[in-house]
Amino acid sequence: MAEWLKKAVFYEIYPQSFYDTNGDGIGDFNGIIEKLDYIKELGANALWINPCFDSPFKDAGYDVRDYMKVAPRYGTNEDLYRLFSTAHEKGIRVFLDLVPGHTSEEHPWFIESKKAEKNEYSGRYIWTDFWLGGIKGHPYIGGESERNGTYMLNFFKCQPALNYGFLNPEESWQKAIDDPDCLKTREAIKDIICFWLSKGCDGFRVDMADSLVKDDDSEKSGTCKVWRDIFETVRKEYPEAAFVAEWNNSHQAITSAGFDMDFMLDWGGNGYNSLLRDYETPGGDHSYFKADAKGDITTFLNEYLPRVEEIKGKGYISLISCNHDTTRARETLSIPELKVAYATLFTLPGVPFLYYGDEIGMRYLHIPTKEGGYTRTGTRTPMQWNNGVNKGFSTAAKEDLYLPVDEAPDAPNAEDALLDKESLLYTVKDIFALRRDTDDFDADSEFSVLIGEKDKAFVYTRGNTVCAVNPSDVKTSVILSCLAGKKVVYKIGDVTAEGDRLEMGEGSFVILK
Ligand code: NOJ
Repeated sequence: MAEWLKKAVFYEIYPQSFYDTNGDGIGDFNGIIEKLDYIKELGANALWINPCFDSPFKDAGYDVRDYMKVAPRYGTNEDLYRLFSTAHEKGIRVFLDLVPGHTSEEHPWFIESKKAEKNEYSGRYIWTDFWLGGIKGHPYIGGESERNGTYMLNFFKCQPALNYGFLNPEESWQKAIDDPDCLKTREAIKDIICFWLSKGCDGFRVDMADSLVKDDDSEKSGTCKVWRDIFETVRKEYPEAAFVAEWNNSHQAITSAGFDMDFMLDWGGNGYNSLLRDYETPGGDHSYFKADAKGDITTFLNEYLPRVEEIKGKGYISLISCNHDTTRARETLSIPELKVAYATLFTLPGVPFLYYGDEIGMRYLHIPTKEGGYTRTGTRTPMQWNNGVNKGFSTAAKEDLYLPVDEAPDAPNAEDALLDKESLLYTVKDIFALRRDTDDFDADSEFSVLIGEKDKAFVYTRGNTVCAVNPSDVKTSVILSCLAGKKVVYKIGDVTAEGDRLEMGEGSFVILK
């Protein structure tokens, strides 16, 4: 595991919407370079940039047409290399987004593989051997090629599944994971990883990392085997490189597959949603950080604690403020609620990820779909930099903007937030600074829960530091012998500490050392 991850704090950038420097209405690499100082000042020291490769953009770039060439709308490969080197000069690492499970249907590999005549890429995707042949349990397409077969999809119609094989092939056209064709797919992905690492990239967020081997078992043993092999090759040459999985199963992703980090995502029933956005419970939003929900941290802790315990010494769980697929937390939580939420999320173990704009409380916009975003589109709107034209995102005419900017009179922006010490941005900045300066907040520092029960404050330790949270709209108090002698080093809301007693006002958070 790369040592630098202990102090890493990531900032996710959806490049289309970050900052446009050439006035074409869409963000670009030069825009990211110009804003590196902002990111550094915020206290993040690593970036994750969503796919920025050549693509027809039917799924916002998760449909890659050329893995080694960037999409011209963001600039050139040279611009991206310059982004790597400028970021490094400022102490910021850069992750790209690797999409290993599928390509665009316009990728040259796929165009070759559709041909009737056998060629080098015939086995790169998952094809049946008959034009009417179905693929049990998977979406597939027929009637689109001269080849006598149907092919498997990994996500949308535009995303044919790359062939890493089947765990237990049952049909004649299904390949085993060590079949030469499947090994070639693996080698191609290794080449892509090494290509970008050689250019200065520091690692990858890996899309649908659990999706490689088909009809895998419940432990995903085939997919884990493939990843172990990929990492063995890549890490030999790039021991500092790191990888975060979109898997949502830290046992499989970290312990079995060898990832450094795994996201705890907003996927049904894993407890993460119970913190920020409760879509599942009937009768209203009961999420923990919603003041009037009289929250219950236990749903989250029941899932989170065993995961943290199990991966100790092997990797980290990454908690996110949101991501490009998730409704922004601002949709359901107020700014005071978000302050308490972020302070908690970013002081828990693991490597945190902040989604661009969450630091100013950007809203989810109810807007039509763009580039396969559907309900995700409202989370992908342009960053609000200031109160000027297009909120400082771009000088383009409104109709040429990638997505509309939030034009509400009270829409937040970074410039105003930086002038206001009481802003949400300052909460983020303060907590990131504490993480940087306090080893107790390292990704792997000791963690234990002192109080984590229903209707009570949530109290935990990180090393010698104690954190306490009361997101609800009623006051509470805590008596704990370990509080004696400790001083408040940071607080949100009304908190008084005396001896072993802590009085916590509504919507409060405190760090004592
Ligand atoms: C997960 C990505 O986060 C999402 O945006 C994308 O649409 C799918 N994977 C398919 O690649």
